[in-house]
This record gives sequence, C-alpha cells and structure tokens, in this order.
Amino acid sequence: MAHPLKIAIFISGRGSNMVSLLEACKSPDFPAIPVVIVSNQPDAPGLQTAQKAGIATTTLVRSEYPSRKEYDSALNESLNEHGVELICLAGFMQILSKDFVEKWHNRILNIHPSLLPSFKGLDTHQRALDAGVKFSGCTVHYVRYEMDTGPIIAQAVVPVVAEDTADTLAARILIEEHRIYPEALKLVASGDVRK
Ligand code: GAR
Repeated sequence: MAHPLKIAIFISGRGSNMVSLLEACKSPDFPAIPVVIVSNQPDAPGLQTAQKAGIATTTLVRSEYPSRKEYDSALNESLNEHGVELICLAGFMQILSKDFVEKWHNRILNIHPSLLPSFKGLDTHQRALDAGVKFSGCTVHYVRYEMDTGPIIAQAVVPVVAEDTADTLAARILIEEHRIYPEALKLVASGDVRK
C-alpha cells in the first residue's frame, strides 16, 4: 500500500463523525491516518475525545484573528506543520473562505445530514419534516466554495416516519453518517473516486 494519507478532521462540537473516522483509521490496512483535529470552538466536546485518543488537537477561533487572511494563514500553517494531505469536515460549522477552499481544491471532504442538493444549510432535519419528504439521508461530498455543494462521493437514504421529530430523524440519519463517512474516506484515500 502507498503511504496512508495524512488527514485533519475539523470539528465544532460533539465529534461523533470524527470518532467514526478515527475508529476506521485504526484498521491496519486503512489508507488514511489522522494527524490533527482542528476545532473553531475551544469548548467543543470532541476535542477532549481526540486528546484521550492521543491525537494532536488545535483550536483556531476566527474572532481572535484581525482578518480572514490571517486566520487562513494560521490554519494553513497548522495543517502544514502536521503534513496534512486531506481535510475531513465533521460537523465543522464555519464557512471556509474562497481562497482556502481553492487552495485545498479536491482535498476537503464534508458530511451533510441530507440528501444533497436538497436541504443545504442549517436546520436540515426540521426543514425535511416541514417539506413532508418520505426519505432523507446524508451525503459525503468534495467541498466547493458555495455552501454544501461539490461532487458527491457517497449517500445513504433514511426513511422519514410519521412520528418523527427533528431529533429522532437526526439520530436515524447519524447512524448512516457514521457508516458512509469512513467508506467515502477509504475510497478517496485509495484513489478510487472519479471527480
Ligand atoms: C452531523 O450530523 C453532521 O452531518 C452535521 O453536524 C452534525 C455533527 O455531529 N453537519 C452539518 O450540518 C454541516 N452542514 P458530530 O459533531 O457528532 O459529528
């Protein structure tokens, strides 16, 4: 096998998708290894989980930098320090700048809790319920500058049931997120994806 791809995982909160990626990376033949977890929130619970797992973490808060350019430089510096080759956004709730996304073209993945291109943005599950869709799901995609766009790598479909609340639907979709994100990462890191 070629050397495993060095990945950074970006989080803002709980980090359950991060955990599913970290677990997958433990398999001896998995084609990626986590080198750093990046958070934009100092109190993201996922940071502690990563530290317990012995993975380097770094917190970069946008409001602590005078400009977007300086924030991006700090982000890039940290990624370069760790030799990062691919970024996985996992519940990272901050829009990345156009420059940053273009610099990392085809080297940023994201998971979104809907069947894109439906229900981009926030409040996804409630909007799916309000629209009365019978199926929702999740999508792993390459990141482009326009929010929640970019070539789709993997999707999973989840039924919506009459009794669903946003929370019950989110929980059912999350199970599939944890399944397809590691699968998609494996495809990308093995070079098995057409863009
Ligand atoms: C996940 O459901 C993820 O798909 C979603 O945030 C949650 C993060 O949970 N991401 C987005 O909505 C991005 N637009 P986690 O921190 O437990 O992985």
